[in-house]
Amino acid sequence: MRIRVVFSLMVLAVAGFTAVSRSSFVAAQQPVTLTVRVDQPGVKIDPLFYGLMTEEINYSYDGGLYAELIRNRTFRDNPQNPVNWSVVKYDGGEGSIALENDPVPDTALTAALKLDASSLKAKQRVGVANEGYWGIPVKPDTPYRASFYAKASSGFKGPLTVAIESNDGKTVHAKANVGQITSEWKKYTVTLRTGKQVPSQEVGRPDQGSTTNRFVISTETPGTVSFSLVSLFPPTYKNRANGNRVDLMELLVAMKPAFLRFPGGNYLEGPNYENRFNWKETIGPIEQRPTHMSPWRYRSSDGMGLLEFLHWAEDMNAEPILGVYAGLHIDNGARILTGDALKPHVQDALDEIEYITGGTDTTWGARRAKDGHPKPFKLRFVEVGNEDWLNMGTASYDSRFTMFYDAIKAKYPDIKIISTMRSQDRNFVHSRKPDFLDDHFYINIPTALRQAHLYDNYDRNATKIFVGEWATNNPRVGDTPMMAFALGDAAWLTGLERNADVAVMNCYAPLLVNVNPGGRQWAVNLIGYDALISFGSPSYYVQKMFSNNRGDVVLPAKFDPLPTLTPEEIPVAPQPPAAAGNNRGNGGRGPTPPTGTFDGLYVSATRDNGNGDVILKLVNVQVKAQLLQIDLQGVPTIKKDASGEVISGELGAINTVAQRLNIVPRQVTIRNAGTKFSYELPQHSVSVIRLRTR
Ligand code: AHR
Repeated sequence: MRIRVVFSLMVLAVAGFTAVSRSSFVAAQQPVTLTVRVDQPGVKIDPLFYGLMTEEINYSYDGGLYAELIRNRTFRDNPQNPVNWSVVKYDGGEGSIALENDPVPDTALTAALKLDASSLKAKQRVGVANEGYWGIPVKPDTPYRASFYAKASSGFKGPLTVAIESNDGKTVHAKANVGQITSEWKKYTVTLRTGKQVPSQEVGRPDQGSTTNRFVISTETPGTVSFSLVSLFPPTYKNRANGNRVDLMELLVAMKPAFLRFPGGNYLEGPNYENRFNWKETIGPIEQRPTHMSPWRYRSSDGMGLLEFLHWAEDMNAEPILGVYAGLHIDNGARILTGDALKPHVQDALDEIEYITGGTDTTWGARRAKDGHPKPFKLRFVEVGNEDWLNMGTASYDSRFTMFYDAIKAKYPDIKIISTMRSQDRNFVHSRKPDFLDDHFYINIPTALRQAHLYDNYDRNATKIFVGEWATNNPRVGDTPMMAFALGDAAWLTGLERNADVAVMNCYAPLLVNVNPGGRQWAVNLIGYDALISFGSPSYYVQKMFSNNRGDVVLPAKFDPLPTLTPEEIPVAPQPPAAAGNNRGNGGRGPTPPTGTFDGLYVSATRDNGNGDVILKLVNVQVKAQLLQIDLQGVPTIKKDASGEVISGELGAINTVAQRLNIVPRQVTIRNAGTKFSYELPQHSVSVIRLRTR
């Protein structure tokens, strides 16, 4: 063995490769040559290649990105009970709360919460408390903007005390008084500011702050007080009114997404016609939004409405990819709208595009200006429906797609139209040729590895692909992906990059999950959070690494020899005990055992046209480290100092709110780069390396 290693070193030295340490050779055993033809740029990678897909699922907006802290703020979540609200009593005070049908004039607000405090005696207090989305996050020295509609019984003197306090009521983090509540509905607004220091109650949390808090509006004055639309906002990203949570936006912006696909997903379709994403009911002041049920079994406040989606995209410097409702719902085909019944919704789509792109001299452009954004947004892509191959949608899709296609192209000929039929629906015939097909993949690890070659032989003249949802997520256990899934994702992404001429854009799904018990409807999501802390998963970091180093053109790259794996050697996603015995859960291999051989290494080589950098994305799914002899051909110079990032770790490694940085990429500095140099890939790793040519 020792003789063989020494011999290999000699051979490599003769071939001109920079030597690496002997221990690396021992670990990596069989060196592999990676040849990259820098002088033969191939297909272009569209700047839109990496984007985000989003919908209301897993408390993605309410209880997630949308910064509102009050849960069930319009008291519609349950018509029988004021869920998430309770009565709180202090100093022997008595009182009760009840839901009432008591509309606020000229708004969409119908339900109210009535506090009966009529039996209060001197120095007693009673109030209504909201528990937030698994707690109200309290941070030090932070302003919170509270607002609510209220009216009181005649003669009620007030004031009302508005407070953020610990759940046991013992610590008041911030409070203010609001006076003169009248017997007519009126909106009140007040700012609460927390102290310079707030207790940090959670173990292991790096930020000072806590979630074990409630929001309370209370009174010492006898009488009754009714409330409607109670709201509490912390500071938001870019200080937008009705805006987004700062930490989550920072995680998303760091990914440098080029587009945002919204509003779904199943959320676009809705569980039924009444609860489709009806964009016209999601614009304007929040008191004008009636709210609706999401297909994920909770009511959406619609605080994240059409304009907020557009703001969100704008704040990330991303383009919108708009999904328009197309007559299908998540109801097994119970009521699919076609023909004349669909026509008003085709008009809705045209109105929606006008709202987004129209000048202020158009009806809907003027409405957008009134809502606060006079400048039109850029919109180049519209998707007609979502997954119309499901819910018995296939038979009617061609006619539905044609109606939207004709109407949109007639008015907006430059808009590219995406069909939700997949490239695998080979027998489906479109009467109008879509600009893109939307492929969706939720796959296990072997499939992800195999699919690194999915588009290698795709007909270059066929319709281009938008991979509008994908994830390595099987077995479907856990909130966010473990490292094993990130390996599958990375391998698959190298295949997408290599085939960027046909797979032009892609986005992972789902994007967000509130990890509190009851928060998640879909297992395995890119970014997790509770009310205070957010974290990226290993898959998040893979996407961030790839998206931040996209490159503009693909360079031919080849391993020689290409190590292969048997099915037994494929990385296995360890199972949490709860999933043991579940037939979907055999370590990410899926119900049918994989057969054949699998690549052990994956590569995408690209060039950044701006600065000439050569970018290597390398995935080692082998259980051993792999030494590479990298041979960059057709380039006169590669600077010897190069940098990169690598993520590797235990296959079951995850990040959590308590350990949000448990597994993250580490920086790599290379001092021996050149047109020929050696580099070792750690076992089970994803590396992105930037090589400078000038
Ligand atoms: O991403 C979760 C769901 O998966 C989406 O809503 C739907 O489009 C797909 O089936």
